[in-house]
Amino acid sequence: MLNFRYPLALCQASTIKMKASLALALLPLIIASPAPVHKRPKPAPGLGDLAKRAGLKYFGTAIDNVVLDNDDYTDIAFNESEFNQVTPSNGQKWVHIEPKKGVFNYTLGDEIVDPSKDEGQMRRCHNFVWHNQLPDWLTTGNWTKTTLLQVLENHIKHEADYYWGDCYAWDVVNEAFEDNGTYRSDIWLNTIGPSYIEHAFRFARKHTSPGTKLYYNDYGIERVNAKSVAVQAMIKDFQARGVPIDGVGLQSHFTAGRAPLYSDIRAAQQLYTSIGLETALTELDVRIDLPDNANKTAAQARVYADSVRACVDEEGCVGVTVWDFWDPVSWVPESFPGQGNACLWDENFVRKPAYYAVADVLKRGAANGTRWER
Ligand SMILES: *[C@@H]1O[C@H](CO)[C@@H](O)[C@H](O)[C@H]1NC(C)=O
Ligand SMILES: *[C@@H]1O[C@H](CO)[C@@H](O)[C@H](O)[C@H]1NC(C)=O
Ligand SMILES: *[C@@H]1O[C@H](CO)[C@@H](O)[C@H](O)[C@H]1NC(C)=O
Ligand SMILES: *[C@@H]1O[C@H](CO)[C@@H](O)[C@H](O)[C@H]1NC(C)=O
Ligand SMILES: *[C@@H]1O[C@H](CO)[C@@H](O)[C@H](O)[C@H]1NC(C)=O
Ligand SMILES: *[C@@H]1O[C@H](CO)[C@@H](O)[C@H](O)[C@H]1NC(C)=O
Repeated sequence: MLNFRYPLALCQASTIKMKASLALALLPLIIASPAPVHKRPKPAPGLGDLAKRAGLKYFGTAIDNVVLDNDDYTDIAFNESEFNQVTPSNGQKWVHIEPKKGVFNYTLGDEIVDPSKDEGQMRRCHNFVWHNQLPDWLTTGNWTKTTLLQVLENHIKHEADYYWGDCYAWDVVNEAFEDNGTYRSDIWLNTIGPSYIEHAFRFARKHTSPGTKLYYNDYGIERVNAKSVAVQAMIKDFQARGVPIDGVGLQSHFTAGRAPLYSDIRAAQQLYTSIGLETALTELDVRIDLPDNANKTAAQARVYADSVRACVDEEGCVGVTVWDFWDPVSWVPESFPGQGNACLWDENFVRKPAYYAVADVLKRGAANGTRWER
């Protein structure tokens, strides 16, 4: 299979094949050119390498399907040294996975999961239950609590089974709370009641492969506030009643100049690590009020660095995922007009000061050496 997105893998595969079966045919060529053809320089450590040295499980990125035909993009996205974990931005969401009731289509998920498996990257899988990106058949259906719970379990069962063993973690429920700590009004809450959340976690435990980490994932919980405290109360209630849950994802969509401080992010994580859960920064990006300038870029680098440091220093935090690494595919400009440039690489695939600031934090984390055991 020729796959031009992965020239390195192709090169290594053909090297092995050459050794095994074509050595004789190529003998004259080998004698004529003594330098090994495929010898490459020792790779500089990428963020994934540095994260592991700092004791994290991963430094990861979200990947969207719309740029998979861009080799400059995929060379970075599917580079285990740079990102040893990937998260499909959209490919595993309900609207794509079950576009018709009971009809499952894993194409967009596989486009990201398959190459990441070839590259030896981990995956955070995203997501089973959300209020957004649902198919019309679901949002316009005339459901009862019983029938909608059947739809929910059937969806989780199929998708969990298809990606059996592929996911370090699943975001089981995404964004179920309002900022004031009340449950978000959506089809799930309005039809089933708040118990849809615990049902989703029980279905996920039942149908995912053993050891899969089950996460609640939300934005705006990176400080101690009404929302993050409501999430903690939900988890305490789950623990008291034996509802499975392993982790909380702090999405961490930040704005330079208005972002939570290092101490805020530490304190927010401790709401969850103090009751035995792991945490992760799952969708980190730091947008800038455009137009950009050197001061804003420097401020952005500080926010990235402080956020990653808040994970490295928090023993229960397993890793950081950026919500894409390349400005042109960021969700920010479309969702927040007037803001942008939120990622670690600019439009020319040049690493920004924020990239080097993150690398420095990870190097310092390795030097501090407080997390070697993990
Ligand atoms: C992968 O990323 C690392 C770190 O940036 C780099 O040194 C290495 O050359 C990259 N590998 C490929 C095949 O591009
Ligand atoms: C599955 O999804 C892909 C990507 O959206 C699409 O191209 C394909 O036609 C779908 N397959 C079926 C059988 O609908
Ligand atoms: C919705 O379902 C209920 C109970 O099954 C039924 O009484 C009602 O007529 C249905 N409404 C529509 C618009 O189909
Ligand atoms: C909480 O916020 C939601 C969304 O803004 C709003 O609809 C609801 O009324 C608020 N509830 C309280 C108790 O403030
Ligand atoms: C950048 O910051 C420096 C020092 O605070 C200030 O003097 C300068 O005016 C700022 N430049 C811009 C473009 O904001
Ligand atoms: C490393 O140690 C310093 C000094 O104790 C501390 O302030 C910092 O947060 C630690 N972690 C990282 C990742 O730099």
